[in-house]
Amino acid sequence: MLPFLRPDLAQTAGYVPNPGHGPTPSQHWDALDANESPFDLPPAVKEHLAIVYQQQIHTNRYPDGSHQHLKKELLAYVQESRRYRHPHIPSQSANFGLEHLSLGNGSDELIRSLLIATCLPTQGSVLVADPTFSMYKILAESLGIPVVSVGRDATFAVDCQAAQAAIDRPPAGQPPIRILFMVHPNSPTGNGLSDAEIDWLLSLPEEILVVIDEAYFEFSQNTLLEVVLERSNWVITRTFSKAFRLAAHRVGYAVGHPELIAVLEKLRLPYNLPTFAQAAAIAALENRALILQSIPDLIAQREHLAQQIQTLPGVQLYPSVGNFLFLRLNPEIYPDLTTNPSQVYHTLLDRLREQGTLIRYTGGGLRITIGDAAMNERTSDRLKTVLSSCILRQSMPH
Ligand SMILES: Cc1ncc(COP(=O)(O)O)c(C=O)c1O
Repeated sequence: MLPFLRPDLAQTAGYVPNPGHGPTPSQHWDALDANESPFDLPPAVKEHLAIVYQQQIHTNRYPDGSHQHLKKELLAYVQESRRYRHPHIPSQSANFGLEHLSLGNGSDELIRSLLIATCLPTQGSVLVADPTFSMYKILAESLGIPVVSVGRDATFAVDCQAAQAAIDRPPAGQPPIRILFMVHPNSPTGNGLSDAEIDWLLSLPEEILVVIDEAYFEFSQNTLLEVVLERSNWVITRTFSKAFRLAAHRVGYAVGHPELIAVLEKLRLPYNLPTFAQAAAIAALENRALILQSIPDLIAQREHLAQQIQTLPGVQLYPSVGNFLFLRLNPEIYPDLTTNPSQVYHTLLDRLREQGTLIRYTGGGLRITIGDAAMNERTSDRLKTVLSSCILRQSMPH
């Protein structure tokens, strides 16, 4: 390591994205590895954006660093999304205002700012429940923040007892837990928070920031937003990268207590959202009825793909309320899994890639994003071929 670098960074692993998603992909992939929407923006919205770029955007000028216009549009959507209130959570009479909103360069930026706001320098540790979204750990480690991981049960519900024990007695030499991240619904496993998990989260003291990551709430049609109006230590993060089809533009947002939001605004870079990204998010919000029309179809596609995958040999498929499915393979059918699971899954991934399908190996299983009907058909066909070749190979003498 170069002598001026932090030695701990030698040990940290960054996020490794799959290649091949650029503007001129060398091959046409069924890219089902990043939980993006399979659909580009509707042509009319793209045409509108092309005109905005040509006629209204001055590339020599900095973006609107206050995100005023976008925040106003977003506020209407946030208010509207309260209709998906979790039935376990009472509705509040108060409303959200602009002071409850902060925008980030993807929700990844907000996750990093939340970590900085609560844990640096050496003020706190972060708690996560594995398997979950990998960026919490990656970002925490990049900032030198200790991570405490607890497990989940067979239905992927969080081990709340272990989590409570970690909060009551943080590992020796580590600062107390100041922040925890829960995805609702969780990635990669697809389950939403249960009433028991929510009750436990509600019981946490106000010195611990509870982050509910609702990246996929448009698919689960369930939100814990109401709690933010009642508790200063709850914050919701969301993204335009999934249901809104804007992964290329990197726009995420947080809904939280005004004091927390003021700190997030201080921590972010002044021009964190390029002008065109703001224009795209505004256009997407203005056309949300049209863009979000694809959701019922994607949900139906998810159920259809699930039915097909369930018939494949040795597959344990888990129920999902997101735009993705999660499965693990049964070691009785795939004995190599007991000795080297990572190698088996990577071989599968490679074979699927050779056929043109990209999916992700994470959380000890395979996560498959729901594509359009044709992609899903190809996915189940290719998975079937690849899995049967694995069984054949394993039944042959070595
Ligand atoms: C749970 C979860 N949170 C956040 C993100 C990141 O979203 P963004 O593109 O807004 O950074 C993802 C992306 O896959 C995710 O799965």
